Amino acid sequence: MARILLGVTGGVAAYKALDLIRLAVAGGHSLRVIQTDNSQRFVGAASFAAITGAPVLTSEWERDPARGAFPDQPTPEHDPISHLELVRNADCFVIAPASANTIAKLAHGLADNLLTSAALAASCPLIVAPAMNHQMWESPATMANTELLRGRSITIIDPEVGSLASRNEWGSGRLAQPATILAAIEQIVPSGERPWDGRRVLVTAGGTREAIDAVRFVGNRSSGRMGFALAEAAAARGAVVTVIAANVDLPRHAQISYIDVESAADLERAAAEQFAGCDLLLMAAAVADFTPPNPAPGKLKKDGRPDLELTLKPTTDVLAQLSECRSEAQMLVGFAAEHGPDAVELGRTKLAAKGLDLLIVNDVSASGTGFESSSNEVTIVSKDGDLHVPKADKLVVANEILNAVDRLAGQRASGVISQSSDE
Ligand SMILES: Cc1cc2nc3c(=O)[nH]c(=O)nc-3n(C[C@H](O)[C@H](O)[C@H](O)COP(=O)(O)O)c2cc1C
Repeated sequence: MARILLGVTGGVAAYKALDLIRLAVAGGHSLRVIQTDNSQRFVGAASFAAITGAPVLTSEWERDPARGAFPDQPTPEHDPISHLELVRNADCFVIAPASANTIAKLAHGLADNLLTSAALAASCPLIVAPAMNHQMWESPATMANTELLRGRSITIIDPEVGSLASRNEWGSGRLAQPATILAAIEQIVPSGERPWDGRRVLVTAGGTREAIDAVRFVGNRSSGRMGFALAEAAAARGAVVTVIAANVDLPRHAQISYIDVESAADLERAAAEQFAGCDLLLMAAAVADFTPPNPAPGKLKKDGRPDLELTLKPTTDVLAQLSECRSEAQMLVGFAAEHGPDAVELGRTKLAAKGLDLLIVNDVSASGTGFESSSNEVTIVSKDGDLHVPKADKLVVANEILNAVDRLAGQRASGVISQSSDE
């Protein structure tokens, strides 16, 4: 557990600080937030207070109700100067997102608000994650200011390349992903014990491709985002995570191992090899149910054919197969993309039929969630009942799923319920 002081400045990426906090809290860390005035135009203090469980400070002149203490610390009897006490108690001070303006102030030692005063007073490691328009990031002033900070052993987590907030803009300036920032924090600050330390988690992600010929395939719309979010959330809790990734084109994380596969048969082989070594399987990949039995070796030609008939044969049900050889201690979580009002009922049937511990039902008839979206809305089905997780970012949904795994493990440990496969 580390005490992380998070400084949030005024930029479009301020909302991503909420994801960083969720990830860090799930990883067992204790957080306090300070905001610049301008950052409050993007995200209000109430959101940060709610998810850290601690007051948020924005001004040097307001009293800190927690008197500089982090959520895991008792409130002291005396009333210290808040910015000094917060940095004294923090193991690190992370500024994410860091605006060009705040970076300039840090580089030149300005202390004109709570955040910059706290940074100047900090003796703990300082970590700065810039986020801004690519021209602001690449401007000589910002480059020189960041170099000044690097020269003082301040860690700069470089922004990523991608689409930016302004329409049609692309370039370097996107805030690094929350999991990347957390990994950098944990590398710098020894985080001690974490809730999932020693747990081995296997995640499947993405969608398989079944070859029709040398260039064509039958595929599905799964992007792999849900599986990757689960992997990041599990790694943030301290687990050793392996992802079997079927055709996923998303950023990778240094602390997670990836095995790339293409077809359902490849995924089946990789899962069979990895399964015995895991404590928890999160089977989020969309694996083809059918595959062409004899893909053409070259490229199929039209050759004046009126139709092309494609015969498909069923693939192995990988999850059901793994479930048959599971050990008592292993936990299996399946995912089902179902369509329409019977989605949860169908999920319940699958849970029992496949001997799973949890089944995550995703109603793909709902708009703005599921396959290609960054958000999801699911129902977590277990033997004991269902939990609906309303539409939220996939990282938030991932943490809810891992919380459900924790609750189930806790119930098992206390002997309240037995394993699905024991029935
Ligand atoms: C809509 C909008 C979006 C902005 N996004 C960013 C941004 O992503 N990064 C940045 O450095 N500045 C951004 N700015 C400019 C900052 O908000 C401005 O420089 C401000 O002074 C930063 O204050 P602070 O560093 O005290 O938080 C944006 C401004 C507006 C109006």
